Amino acid sequence: MTKTLELHTKNIESFVTEDEIARLQPEVDRHQQNLESGRGKGAEFLGWLHLPSQTTSDALREIEHSAAWIRENCETLVSIGIGGSYLGAKAAIDFGSHTFSNQLPPSARGGPEILFAGQNISSDTLHDLLEILEDKKVCLNVISKSGTTTEPAIAFRLLKQFMEKKYGPDETRKRIFVTTDPKKGVLKQLADEEGYRRFVIPGDVGGRYSVLTPVGLLPIAVGGLDIKEMVAGAVDCEKHTSRHSALDQNSAYRYAAIRNLLLRKGKTLELMAAFHPALQTVVEWWRQLAGESEGKDGKGIFPATAEYTADLHSLGQWVQEGNRIIFETFLRVASSNHLIEIPKFPEDRDGLNYLAGKNLDEVNEKAWQGTAQAHLEGGVPNMTLTVKDRSAHTLGYLFYFFQRAVAMSGYLIGVNPFDQPGVEFYKNNMFRLLNKPGYRKEK
Ligand code: PA5
Repeated sequence: MTKTLELHTKNIESFVTEDEIARLQPEVDRHQQNLESGRGKGAEFLGWLHLPSQTTSDALREIEHSAAWIRENCETLVSIGIGGSYLGAKAAIDFGSHTFSNQLPPSARGGPEILFAGQNISSDTLHDLLEILEDKKVCLNVISKSGTTTEPAIAFRLLKQFMEKKYGPDETRKRIFVTTDPKKGVLKQLADEEGYRRFVIPGDVGGRYSVLTPVGLLPIAVGGLDIKEMVAGAVDCEKHTSRHSALDQNSAYRYAAIRNLLLRKGKTLELMAAFHPALQTVVEWWRQLAGESEGKDGKGIFPATAEYTADLHSLGQWVQEGNRIIFETFLRVASSNHLIEIPKFPEDRDGLNYLAGKNLDEVNEKAWQGTAQAHLEGGVPNMTLTVKDRSAHTLGYLFYFFQRAVAMSGYLIGVNPFDQPGVEFYKNNMFRLLNKPGYRKEK
C-alpha cells in the first residue's frame, strides 16, 4: 500500500448505491463552497480549515524548543485538560509511541513519561497521582481554551500547590506551561500574572478541532513525535480535500456522504472499531469530534468505539445479531512497526502449527476480513479506513481527514458542527448545586 489512507466501501454496496452517492454530489459541492468561503454555519470557528498550511516553521520551532526543555528537565510531564484539550495529544502519543512507553527506562524513552489529569472529579485519582509525583522531576502543561472548565481547573489548583511546595515559586514558574485562549479567560490572566510560558489556541479553532495547535503539538512533541512531519501530513490532506470535492476523489467526503445515506436509512449508530491497539485513543478522539459536532437539534449519528479483536469477545455478539441500527467503520494500519512470526512447535500440542510462519499482521488481516464479511452477512454495512503506517506524517493526515469528514457530515445533516451548546446543561446544574456565584439556587 502506497497511499497514506485508503477507504474501502465494497461492504456498503447492498445498502447504498453509487447512484445515491452521486446524487449527493451537488449538496457536497455546496457545503464545500460554504466551508471554503466561510459562509456556512459556525463560520467563526473555521480556523482549523487551513491551519496546517498556515503553521509557520517559527511556530513549530517555538513548540519544539519548550518540548526540548521539558524533555531535558523532567521525568514526568502531567498534561492537564479534558475533551478536545486532551484527547488529540493522548491519541497521538498512543499511536506513535512504544506500547508501554511509560514503563520504559528513561534512557530508552529519551524523554519524560507523560501522564494525563483533569478528566474526572476523583479524589482517589488525584491522590494517587500526587503520590507518584512525589519523587519525580515534574513539569505541568495545563490546557484549557476557556480556562474555566471545572475538571482541569481543580486538577491544576492541586497540582500547582504541589509544585509550589516542592519547588518554590521561581522553579515552579519555569516548570508550568499554559495553553489557552490568546485574549481571555482566568487561565490566561493567571499565566500572565505568574509569568508562566504561555501558548495560544487560536480563538477561531474549537477544542475538538485543536489537535494541530499547541494544544496537541506541545505534549506530542514532548512525547518524541516529529510534529513537523505531523503537520506536513495534515497539509497534504488539507490541500487534497480543499481542491477536490468530487466524491470519487475526496475520500473524506465520500466517507461523510455514505454515513449520511446510511443515517437516512435508519442506521443511527456508527461503531468505529480500531483493528490495532495503537489506534484505540485515535478512535476515542474521533468519537468526541463526531459526537460533539453532530449530536444536536435531535439529529446525529451516535458514535461508538471498539477495539478489535478484543471487543469481538464483548460487543461482537451484539454487532452480529442485535438491533440493526448500526453500521461499522474499521480503522486499521497496513503495516505494524514490528513483525512477529508465529513459531513452529514440533509437537503442536496447542494446535497452532497451522499458523506457523505467518506474522501477526497477516493473522490480524484475516480477522478483519472475516469480521467484515460476517457483520455484513449479519446486516451491518461496513467501511474500512486503512492507513499506511504508524508515522507522524500518516497521523497528521488522518487527524485532518476526520476533521474535514466530520465538518462535511455536520453540514449534510444540517447542524452547526462547530458549537456544543448541550455541554453547558450539566455544568449549569452542577454549578447551581455547588452554589457557584452567579448561578441561581434551585427552589
Ligand atoms: O471540543 C470542545 O470544544 C470541548 O470538548 C472542549 O475541548 C472541552 O470541553 C474542554 O474545554 P476547555 O479547553 O475550554 O477547557
